[in-house]
Amino acid sequence: MCGIIGYIGPRSAAPILISGLKRLEYRGYDSAGVALVSRRALRVYKKEGKLAKLQAALPKRLGGKIGIGHTRWATHGAPSDANAHPHVSADGSIAVVHNGIVENATELRERLATEGVTFVSETDTEIIAHLVARADGESLEQRVRGALALVRGTYGIAVVDARAPDRIVVARNGSPVIIGLGEHEMFVASDVAALVRHTRQVVHLDDGEIAVLDTGGFHTTTMDERPIAKSPSTVEWEDGAYERGGHAHYMRKEIFDQPEAVARTLSGRLDHHFHTAHLGGLNLDPRELLDVKRVKLLGCGSAYYAGLAGAHLIESLVRIPASAEPAAEFRYRNPVIERDTLYVAISQSGETIDTLMAVQEVRQSGGRVLGVVNVVGSSIAREVDGGIYMHAGPEVSVASTKAYTCSLVCLALLALHLGRARDLSPEQGRRLIDAMERLPAGIEAALAAESHLEAIARRYADSRSAFYIGRGPGFPIALEGAQKLKEISYIHAEAYPASELKHGPLALIGPDIPTVIALPHDALLDKSIASLEEVRARSGPVIALTHPGDGRIAGRADAIIEVPPSEDVLNPVVMGVPLQLFAYHCALALGRDIDQPRNLAKSVTVE
Ligand code: AGP
Repeated sequence: MCGIIGYIGPRSAAPILISGLKRLEYRGYDSAGVALVSRRALRVYKKEGKLAKLQAALPKRLGGKIGIGHTRWATHGAPSDANAHPHVSADGSIAVVHNGIVENATELRERLATEGVTFVSETDTEIIAHLVARADGESLEQRVRGALALVRGTYGIAVVDARAPDRIVVARNGSPVIIGLGEHEMFVASDVAALVRHTRQVVHLDDGEIAVLDTGGFHTTTMDERPIAKSPSTVEWEDGAYERGGHAHYMRKEIFDQPEAVARTLSGRLDHHFHTAHLGGLNLDPRELLDVKRVKLLGCGSAYYAGLAGAHLIESLVRIPASAEPAAEFRYRNPVIERDTLYVAISQSGETIDTLMAVQEVRQSGGRVLGVVNVVGSSIAREVDGGIYMHAGPEVSVASTKAYTCSLVCLALLALHLGRARDLSPEQGRRLIDAMERLPAGIEAALAAESHLEAIARRYADSRSAFYIGRGPGFPIALEGAQKLKEISYIHAEAYPASELKHGPLALIGPDIPTVIALPHDALLDKSIASLEEVRARSGPVIALTHPGDGRIAGRADAIIEVPPSEDVLNPVVMGVPLQLFAYHCALALGRDIDQPRNLAKSVTVE
């Protein structure tokens, strides 16, 4: 939820830290700060608010060739200058940036207070700075190790010491730490987004590892001082992939990236000979595929909604029970883990803590879990037994768009692969492949209607509330549509299965609450039109999301959004796109901070 950056090398550290923080701002944006070591002293600058406020507060000339920086999403203590990172020890020697949560913060704080330490912030991170400064040991590494031995919880940290201006010490337990390798310079970040401008050679720390970075390289050890050899990997995405590319917002760029992103997800994975999907990373042989009796999809937020749509898809194509559950609910209800159930964790970032913990829960009980993940080398990608990468490209906007769509496409590939290993006929496989290959063009067609969607959005942006309804695969479409609207426009939006309307929510329908109805031309269309009538009968404005060609809808809706039809199970892929644009234009009309909506952050790495 927060972002870490660090640099050591021959260049001036400040501009590198600031440009890194800019790239990380999507991870948290309520305060930011940097600490530089210069002439054996720490210079620390911190500001509540967006990064621009910190930039404005920095002196023009800022020395120091070693430094750390942080952008924050508040957990312990409100956003303020004092609570912003880096945090500094009482003697002014140690500065720490930290992602994660110190679970025994209260106990450690009390203990340090009785030893005479005065705290200047409400954060758990400040505790780490004091612990490092007071720990025994000749080197900074030893003192960090000593301090972390007292800490319970999750952390990704970077630490500098004014008395040891030739190194940065970093450590990981549950929160990502990635080392970037340069020529006579080293970087550290919590996200490759901050590194790719400088290097694409990276090393991912694993939990329980500590690394010391200096201008000559790095060395890694475990918490109990065993040396670990780590090999670098190359980051898949280039620096340019993180640019906005002429769009006013990352969200719009990412919505328009979708035809290409989906084509990448499909690339090299469709087998026209056996009418199946090649998914090399699954690590499941044909016999193991036959043993799968059930599929359980796990994720949070939009990833969970993709899971709901995926469950429909898998159950109808593979003819085995499939269901989705929010990862946090799953992990805390002491779930029964079955050997013949295939668990699938869906996550754009690969760092969402609830999803990661659900993966760990399944694995420690002997279950098999796959990942549908976008970020290569992320924690979930490294923890699962196998999986499918989305290849959506970096997603920067807090509102997930292309990753949601590409995860659905991954689940369609999985369904095809599982289905063809079982009872799905070659003809059904061929039809599904044809439909998948038409998805990029279908999305293009949906995007071409942007000005129409903008006009509808302007009409309804003043609504205080909206309903989204659908049946079958239409229900996850509704859920994700409502999610997009509320998170970026702040308009209250609720999604219901259309059949549930008359069991309660109909009481709220009236002329000032629009209802978006997903009306794919599937077997449930007549019933969905009956739900539309229920809304109209209460004078509720209707926005119909459908395909061209059914004369019954035009006269019954206040606005119509049409997208090309697909195979029934794939309709959620293209039908999600106009709802993204609708939400975007509502938020734009209301002047919202679209890429960085209030109270949210891109990846939720704390519980
Ligand atoms: C989507 O628009 C949200 N911002 C959010 O629900 C997101 O999908 C969720 O936090 C899961 O993130 P992940 O895919 O990175 O695990």
